Amino acid sequence: MEVLSVASELYPLVKTGGLADVAGALPGALSDSGVTMRTLIPGYPAVMSKVTGGRVVAEITDLFGVNARLIAGRVAGLDLIVLDAPALYDRPGNPYVGPEGRDWPDNWKRFAALSWVASELGLGLVEGYRPQVIHAHDWQAGLVPAYVKYGPSSTLKTVITVHNMAFQGTFGADIFSQLRLPAHAFSVEGVEYYGGVGYLKAGVECADVVTTVSPTYASEIRTPEFGMGLEGLLNNRSETVHGVLNGIDLGAWDPATDPALRQGYGPNTIHLRRINKAAVREAFGLDDGGGPLFAVVSRLTWQKGIDLLAQNIDYMVENGAQLAVLGSGDTDLENSIRAASQRHPGRVGIVTGYNEPLSHLIQAGSDVMMVPSRFEPCGLTQLYALRYGCVPLVSRVGGLNDTVIDANVAALQAEVATGVQFSPPSAGALRDAIRRTLDLYADDKMWKKIQRRGMKSDVSWETSAARYADLYASLIGLKTDDDS
Ligand code: ADP
Ligand code: GLC
Repeated sequence: MEVLSVASELYPLVKTGGLADVAGALPGALSDSGVTMRTLIPGYPAVMSKVTGGRVVAEITDLFGVNARLIAGRVAGLDLIVLDAPALYDRPGNPYVGPEGRDWPDNWKRFAALSWVASELGLGLVEGYRPQVIHAHDWQAGLVPAYVKYGPSSTLKTVITVHNMAFQGTFGADIFSQLRLPAHAFSVEGVEYYGGVGYLKAGVECADVVTTVSPTYASEIRTPEFGMGLEGLLNNRSETVHGVLNGIDLGAWDPATDPALRQGYGPNTIHLRRINKAAVREAFGLDDGGGPLFAVVSRLTWQKGIDLLAQNIDYMVENGAQLAVLGSGDTDLENSIRAASQRHPGRVGIVTGYNEPLSHLIQAGSDVMMVPSRFEPCGLTQLYALRYGCVPLVSRVGGLNDTVIDANVAALQAEVATGVQFSPPSAGALRDAIRRTLDLYADDKMWKKIQRRGMKSDVSWETSAARYADLYASLIGLKTDDDS
């Protein structure tokens, strides 16, 4: 089966969050299921500098008014088709915003172009290459299903994965005439959304299959609280909406071999983590006065509940804990953590910016990974934490609900607990969860059991990759082993 994945970020080439990790891991995970996956990605500077040995497979003279080429290449084990359109993508900053942090005003065009090219690839733009299914990720690829629906092919199928309902790619109606869609596509059955154009809405409306990244989030988004305007549409299409849990790349995230660690270890050598703990303390200017080390590796935003954490920092320190925060995002949230680090020198530290190796070290050296999100489609940090023996403390929402087993009395007795959950996402409930975590930590034998269990829990792609493969197969009318 030939599947084209379309993503706006891709680990290890360009990453702002979990989407990159998922888009980067899925092709490898699917290879055992008979799926060949290539990825179409914009030619940002970070991508262009890595596809140096690539082959030009198509020239496009009028891509929404600019020149473009497609370059096929293989980087870090990934088969790429790079959309090299310097006028759209050769810019500083991250994939979506300029260096001063503002969205590029022509993002509608940058990602319409990406989606349009994907649909053209599906129609045979490159000789010898014809994907049967296009798998679009998030709003940036949301127009793919629309271009396919309103295009000439009746056999090409589309899947869209929603990684986060909060980012929908909505634009004014004025752009519609430039999208190269027929006039009737500006309708409820097409791209129209509250009078404007909705890229994610278009994807969810027009795709053959809609997936999201955990079973709990798949149910949550059918409610107004989490659906963010798309709940009605999702309810109408409920039989085509699937929650497929993310996995992680076990090769890139292996505490035994991870080059970012000061000391490698495994489930039977958990005591060696203390060498990494010392390294984390150094990196965050923390003293070695003892106590559990709590950590956060996150975008610092309202979604991630960082304000709930900020309200609990004094309580944590008063109770003997330390805190290391790696992240960047809202200035107010950053400032509130920084103020706490000034109030508690040696006990609270913050490093801002994006730092991949440090994020690995933190997982390997901290005792507790905090993910107090208000909503979380899947969440990968708690999965990395499980694998690294860093006990996750999470709110009970979305994928956090599906991946962490709360250390309540029954779970402890049944010896299945892997972390601590709290609900609702409020400062008070988080405080109770911090208390419970401190009590568990004080029982060294119990704590090590929870750590070891987490390290052994299945966070691989195996089951979910097979589910994606089944979904693709059912779309193109292939029977899978399970059906026979
Ligand atoms: P989201 O995609 O919503 O940000 P996820 O938990 O799915 O949340 O994925 C976040 C990814 O980004 C993880 O791989 C995490 O380690 C990484 N990450 C987040 N912030 C940073 C940072 N400041 N430095 C390095 N990695 C980070
Ligand atoms: C989004 C979500 C996150 C998820 C990631 C990968 O960024 O916020 O929960 O893990 O996508 O699917």
